[in-house]
Amino acid sequence: MGRPVNVGVVGCGAISAQYFQTIDRLPQLRLVAVADLDLDRAREAVRPYAGVDVVSVADLLADPRVDVVLNLTIPAAHAEIALQAIAAGKDVYCEKPLAATAEDAGRMLRAAGEAGVRVGCAPDTVLGTGTQTARKAIDDGLIGRPVAATATMMTPGHERWHPNPDFYYVPGGGPLLDMGPYYVTSLVTLLGPVTTVIGAASRTRAKRTIGSGPRRGEDIPVTVDTHVTGVLVHDSGALSTLVMSFDAAATKAPNIEVHGEAGSLVVPDPNRFDGSVLLSQVGEQGWRELPVSAGYAEGGRGVGLADFTATPAGEEPRTSGSLAYHVLDVMESLLASAGSGTAVSITSTCERPSPVLLQPGG
Ligand SMILES: NC(=O)c1ccc[n+]([C@@H]2O[C@H](COP(=O)([O-])OP(=O)(O)OC[C@H]3O[C@@H](n4cnc5c(N)ncnc54)[C@H](O)[C@@H]3O)[C@@H](O)[C@H]2O)c1
Repeated sequence: MGRPVNVGVVGCGAISAQYFQTIDRLPQLRLVAVADLDLDRAREAVRPYAGVDVVSVADLLADPRVDVVLNLTIPAAHAEIALQAIAAGKDVYCEKPLAATAEDAGRMLRAAGEAGVRVGCAPDTVLGTGTQTARKAIDDGLIGRPVAATATMMTPGHERWHPNPDFYYVPGGGPLLDMGPYYVTSLVTLLGPVTTVIGAASRTRAKRTIGSGPRRGEDIPVTVDTHVTGVLVHDSGALSTLVMSFDAAATKAPNIEVHGEAGSLVVPDPNRFDGSVLLSQVGEQGWRELPVSAGYAEGGRGVGLADFTATPAGEEPRTSGSLAYHVLDVMESLLASAGSGTAVSITSTCERPSPVLLQPGG
């Protein structure tokens, strides 16, 4: 193995700690510098790690040691930071969604193409043993030809626990753009790209109240739909029914089920790397758990960055920008369909990402 890939991180908020832990334990990645609008937050975030520079965004992007920029800013800043990184000649890997709008995401991908750099994007949880074992079961024919899936994410909303939840309730957020990337990326991994969507959505309240941290009790405005439902028509002909909501106290519905002509699968939470995959074949009583057979075992956020940086030039990374763009296009089109009351054709497409063999996640 050559020298580690040097990572510069922009955005040191809530999710950054998980990335820092993964980068720290993966020998192929090395954290060299971090930046944030709030430098104190950045300093605090990397306190456990020696030798990491805390710098301005401009200095991080100008640092010749930085091979790849890990963009952990809020969705509304993803495109701005990614475009700056691309202009500096750096590969960039973003947290999800790729950008707040498909238009911004398209601009990123075009700029990257012109600059000859690569764009990758979360979620990488779908590279874990949960989604990958389910994918292998489908590819091995255990459920026959897939015909349908359901995907359900219902919570009361992140303002209960996130100290700065504003971004969840403005465009680029909402249950669909926030949690949809896990579910739609998993559905595309399992069933391939989407060609048409039909949506319906609602918004229950105009304000949310922050439930933790220094701003506890403060009301924040809601400018996005908070209960989004719809049907995704896959190119294969399979139909996925999606329910993404910040308006439910709780649910007992499985995160994802996939149904084929010969059997049904329960697919674990796509926001986790692991989880049990259950199979019930036609004529069988009940469910049996499948052995773990594919994916990064014991993965953590950042495994997708390692997978991205290890992808040989000329090959499509599993966490590619085009996959994330397609997922964002599907989600945006679902909201457009909900607004217009008519089906929307999806103009983008992507490769079904290549499977991950069972291996340690680091
Ligand atoms: N919080 C989670 O559990 C979670 C989980 C998975 C993914 N994500 C995704 O990770 C991303 C970040 O989420 P978070 O919860 O860590 O948010 P956060 O608000 O806690 O942190 C974002 C950080 O980015 C910084 N920032 C914003 N704009 C910037 C700019 N222009 N330049 C430099 N720094 C900037 C902010 O100062 C802040 O420190 C989002 O895309 C989110 O969807 C979050």
